[in-house]
Amino acid sequence: MNNKTTSKIYPLESPSEYLRLEIQNSFPQYSIEMELSDQEIKYNKGAHILDAGCGSGTVTKKILNANKNEKIKITAADISESNIEQMKLSLTPSDQAKVNFLYEDVRSLASIESETVDAYYSRFVFEYHPIDGQKIADAAFRVLKSGATATIIDADNVFLGLKTDNAKLMGELAELRQNITTYTDDICLHIPRFLHNAGFISIELKPIPVIFFSQKEKNFEAEMYNKRFQQMRPTFLDFWSSSRIDKMIDMYLSEVVKPTTLMRYEKMVFKAIKP
Ligand SMILES: C[S@@+](CC[C@H](N)C(=O)[O-])C[C@H]1O[C@@H](n2cnc3c(N)ncnc32)[C@H](O)[C@@H]1O
Repeated sequence: MNNKTTSKIYPLESPSEYLRLEIQNSFPQYSIEMELSDQEIKYNKGAHILDAGCGSGTVTKKILNANKNEKIKITAADISESNIEQMKLSLTPSDQAKVNFLYEDVRSLASIESETVDAYYSRFVFEYHPIDGQKIADAAFRVLKSGATATIIDADNVFLGLKTDNAKLMGELAELRQNITTYTDDICLHIPRFLHNAGFISIELKPIPVIFFSQKEKNFEAEMYNKRFQQMRPTFLDFWSSSRIDKMIDMYLSEVVKPTTLMRYEKMVFKAIKP
């Protein structure tokens, strides 16, 4: 047991996270194209859109591309200054002019005035807040104008949902599940309740199965896990020794690429309206 605590809000926080997200989002299983059509993200002049937990800007960039000739304003908010800085540099000057980059916690959105946002997006952020999911939904509700839509995209069964007959690894994952407070693999099951409790109505869900089974797919996912684990190491060190972490990582990565392993996540796109 290690007494050092990292207190990272986002367990993957790292200067290399921007690049990891860009690589991840370029793979079909993680592509935003399946989640949102250009048609449903078209906005009128003057619309204010919030990308809460923007990361490398996947949602922001898709909305910018779909609204090239429209004078919209996007607030891209994140608690990672490194992600915000690198995202800013990746945009053209004309796109940069449409984006307000904001260092902000999505659990409060304290610097955003109430009822000033026309559309709210949050992609792959709730899963890192197993304790504070309700706060994120409440903050989204507060900043949205009446009649506006919140779109939440997240995934269940990632990482801790691995199924294998390696009993030692399954035991380690069960223990990780007990210890980790900054990630959960079943947040989607709770999101409708968070949205309802916040005051949202007309909650809709589009499920998207995400499968890694071909060797190419599993090699890619193993590469992603390797990067994720290295970045999450400080969080794991809160409760495990370095050698125990190394053993878990070795077991996990070798399991992912086995011909018999099938990895199945569930991506879900929730939409809800503020009455
Ligand atoms: C998995 S990444 C997803 C990034 C992006 N939305 C995407 O779809 O590629 C999660 C992002 O949420 C940010 N994040 C996590 N918790 C946050 C919080 N409480 N407030 C603001 N940003 C947060 C992280 O810094 C990271 O950039």
